[in-house]
Amino acid sequence: MEAIKRRQKVLVTGHAGYIGQVMVRVLENAGHEVTGCDVDYFKGCEFLPPGYQGAVQHKDVRDIEVKDLAGFDAIIHLAALSNDPLGDLDRELTMEINHRASVRLARMASDAGVRRFLFSSSCSIYGAAGDESQAETASLKPLSAYAESKVRTEEDLDKIASATFSPVYLRNATAYGWSPRFRADLVLNNLCCWGYTTHAIRILSDGTPWRPLVHVEDISSAFAAALEAPTGAIHNRAFNVGRECENYQIRDLAEIVRQVMPSCSVEYAGRGGPDPRNYRVKFERIERELPGWHPQWTARSGAEEIVDACGRHQMSREDFEGWRFTRLAQLKRLTESGRLDPELRWRDRSHREPNTFPKNGVEAG
Ligand SMILES: NC(=O)c1ccc[n+]([C@@H]2O[C@H](COP(=O)([O-])OP(=O)(O)OC[C@H]3O[C@@H](n4cnc5c(N)ncnc54)[C@H](O)[C@@H]3O)[C@@H](O)[C@H]2O)c1
Repeated sequence: MEAIKRRQKVLVTGHAGYIGQVMVRVLENAGHEVTGCDVDYFKGCEFLPPGYQGAVQHKDVRDIEVKDLAGFDAIIHLAALSNDPLGDLDRELTMEINHRASVRLARMASDAGVRRFLFSSSCSIYGAAGDESQAETASLKPLSAYAESKVRTEEDLDKIASATFSPVYLRNATAYGWSPRFRADLVLNNLCCWGYTTHAIRILSDGTPWRPLVHVEDISSAFAAALEAPTGAIHNRAFNVGRECENYQIRDLAEIVRQVMPSCSVEYAGRGGPDPRNYRVKFERIERELPGWHPQWTARSGAEEIVDACGRHQMSREDFEGWRFTRLAQLKRLTESGRLDPELRWRDRSHREPNTFPKNGVEAG
């Protein structure tokens, strides 16, 4: 059996994003040599300077060449337009960046001799699954361009798998938790921010849809476990990343947040209809086949962490509802101001976005 190196050279695309900023720390703590690669759409979208100071390629994944990939043992591919609203903004761009550029990257990785390709997929590919819990073998029902881009990428990576190239599909549940590049457009983070900034925890649907959740640090350690697992355990395999006990209905999450901030009320925002994205997920495979993974967090401990961080960083309603923590709002801001062109390429190649994070962790202005 092939021996797995304890210290691997890993390229992490999308390292400057919400998950990436936590993952690079987890990988470095595990002893790996990490290089980041990101086009940095979300520079300035933080309270504190991102902690990662390591090697970086400032590159659009659409422009990566084989020579950029030589010498890496593995690639962790996070770079993507990362949620449904971004896909609704421009379906073709989501397909171009999330699907076609990912497949192209994997082909070049295989040509460059990279042996392992960990793809950041999503449980949202189960889509309108109803109340029945979905295992990796379930039929996929993507409901958005975003989810479809993940399905198509998995299908095409499967065709590239070979004796020397192992794609792995890590289908993450919806992430939560604090990160230097925090996102407030993810359900638990969002509910906590509503509660913290307005004292009303606002639910947009009727509260009944099921969602699996997972902490951003637990996602990061799942990727580390997949990096370190024997090839036979991961080769061309899909893993749902999360835990059985972390399937929640949205109204349960709101109640958890209310328990953390008892002075808050829970409000239904009036749009009221059931959200068609409704899926519960089974996590037996990752538990059984990636025994090196030890998730630590629950929605309750995550809500406590987020509320605490909102306090430490003095999150205001203006911050929360502005562009910094909502991926769609920041990309719209960059395209409307002309800094990004309609293909989401920087007009000024040096893409100098002023650092807007305040000194000493306190919001400016
Ligand atoms: N956050 C979640 O709940 C979640 C759940 C399931 C799967 N995922 C997947 O995990 C990955 C990371 O998600 P995230 O929450 O950190 O998103 P994010 O938006 O915070 O980070 C994505 C990063 O990718 C970069 N990027 C985007 N397009 C690029 C391009 N063309 N070239 C180079 N860099 C580019 C962005 O600048 C950003 O730093 C994504 O693939 C996402 O689909 C996320």
